[in-house]
Amino acid sequence: MPAADLIIRNATLVDGTGGPAQPGDLSVYGDRILEVGRVAGAAAREIDAEGLVLAPGFIDAHTHDDNALLVAPDMIPKISQGVTTVIVGNCGVSLAPLVTRDPPAPLSLIDSGGSYRFPRMRAYLDAVDAAKPALNCAALVGHMALRIRTMDRLDRAATADEIAAMARLVEESLNDGAIGLSTGLFYPPSQAATTEEVIGVAAPLADLGGIYVTHMRDEADGVLASLEETFRIGRETGAPVVVSHHKVVGARNAGRSTETLAALRRAATTQMVGLDAYPYAASSTMLRREMVPLSRTVRIAWSKSHPDLAGLELPEAAARLGLPVDAAIDALQPAGAIYFSMDEDDVRRILAHPDTMIGSDGLPHDVHPHPRLWGTFPRVLGRYARDEGLFPLTEAVHRMTGLTAGRFGLRDRGTLAPGRYADLVLFDPATVIDRATFDDPATPAAGIRLVVCNGRAVWKDGAPTGTRPGRVIRGREG
Ligand code: ZN
Ligand code: CU
Repeated sequence: MPAADLIIRNATLVDGTGGPAQPGDLSVYGDRILEVGRVAGAAAREIDAEGLVLAPGFIDAHTHDDNALLVAPDMIPKISQGVTTVIVGNCGVSLAPLVTRDPPAPLSLIDSGGSYRFPRMRAYLDAVDAAKPALNCAALVGHMALRIRTMDRLDRAATADEIAAMARLVEESLNDGAIGLSTGLFYPPSQAATTEEVIGVAAPLADLGGIYVTHMRDEADGVLASLEETFRIGRETGAPVVVSHHKVVGARNAGRSTETLAALRRAATTQMVGLDAYPYAASSTMLRREMVPLSRTVRIAWSKSHPDLAGLELPEAAARLGLPVDAAIDALQPAGAIYFSMDEDDVRRILAHPDTMIGSDGLPHDVHPHPRLWGTFPRVLGRYARDEGLFPLTEAVHRMTGLTAGRFGLRDRGTLAPGRYADLVLFDPATVIDRATFDDPATPAAGIRLVVCNGRAVWKDGAPTGTRPGRVIRGREG
């Protein structure tokens, strides 16, 4: 056995499987875990982790970090939470394969000017590797990007030829290393897509080991029909499905997570069905008129026409503009917003569902982002597991590690075992908590002591180390 590079001693090991915590040590050699349990010998670097939990690095199941990996590769909002892998390309939105100067909303959410410049998935993934991000990523190819690439107009269903062309791009993207396909059927560029269109575009997934991930058509009154549509797409293509940021929106739908979770449980008996969620009763996306009446409060996340109004509530922003709210919605465009539109009991019920993975859905380019970008993982650990007792800590960790690695097919990640990649987080279970708030969203969490990615420390004692050892996890590599 080679001498370890790093030994972490006397930790409480929470291994990501959901099994019981164990006291013990862990050693690292190169980019891999060498031993777990009792570690003899010595290493150049040793850490006494008395009183701290050592867990696999967290996997953010749902992100829009596609462009952040390129333009802000230190990835501080994520590594400061203990995240060591992000899944990008969600909600139908991916940077590749698409070249355009003028992406429509919501693709514009991840554009920092000229970001859509990758004609192939391989070119994008190579650019991420070249940017040397601080953490790992795996990518989905977005149906909305494929529609814009393939169709002359978006207000209709795709023709058979266009469906075949998009399916070829899915196949090419998976052969280039993407791990699946995402849709955002809620959004105008995809609303006209029929279920049959999606089934056709997703057809290559099953043979290539890909997954189907969806921001569903309707998360409000029609949420059950949208779930049925999602299950049908999974059944007819043979691909495993993931329901993104599962929620029920609008006061009149409060409590309906009992119905949606029953439907998910039923479907999971006959097909592969997963879901992710973030631990907040507010969502965030473009500023959209139809979302306003479904929300108790609407807050402006960014506005291109009035950047100074970011952070204000909509009525306050309207007053500043001297306009009624309805006219202000137009005047603020293009804009993003935060919608307080969910019921806390539904949020808790969905988080507690045994198949729910944790995904932040953070929007890294927003001026005044939803705090989920900086707070999701410590909030689940500190608020929901420790303070509210929604589930044990071992279960909370499982939903951000082993469960997610299994669902997305991330080999050798998500659990603590010899031979696995040394993606690790060491945190204080007594103090770990989110500090990002709706008023002060860009605030790092408390209690995250050390974060290791591929064997190298990326976050230590409240600051990034500057080391950026992240890698692209390519789906078909093994
Ligand atoms: Zn979404
Ligand atoms: Cu999303």
